[in-house]
Amino acid sequence: MDRLICLCKGVRENTIKDLINKIDFPSLEIIQENTNAATNCGRCINAIETLIKQKA
Ligand code: FES
Repeated sequence: MDRLICLCKGVRENTIKDLINKIDFPSLEIIQENTNAATNCGRCINAIETLIKQKA
């Protein structure tokens, strides 16, 4: 399911997953730079870090 992960910036789970899968060493910073997710309130940071860990 394509959840909305970052409510502030309207970034969906599949957008973040696609990016994580495209890069060798994904990090929160790379995701912030490329999608704008997690650049406002920070409430979505844990969910994004979980997605990153699922790849590792
Ligand atoms: S929900 Fe992602 S920065 Fe607020």
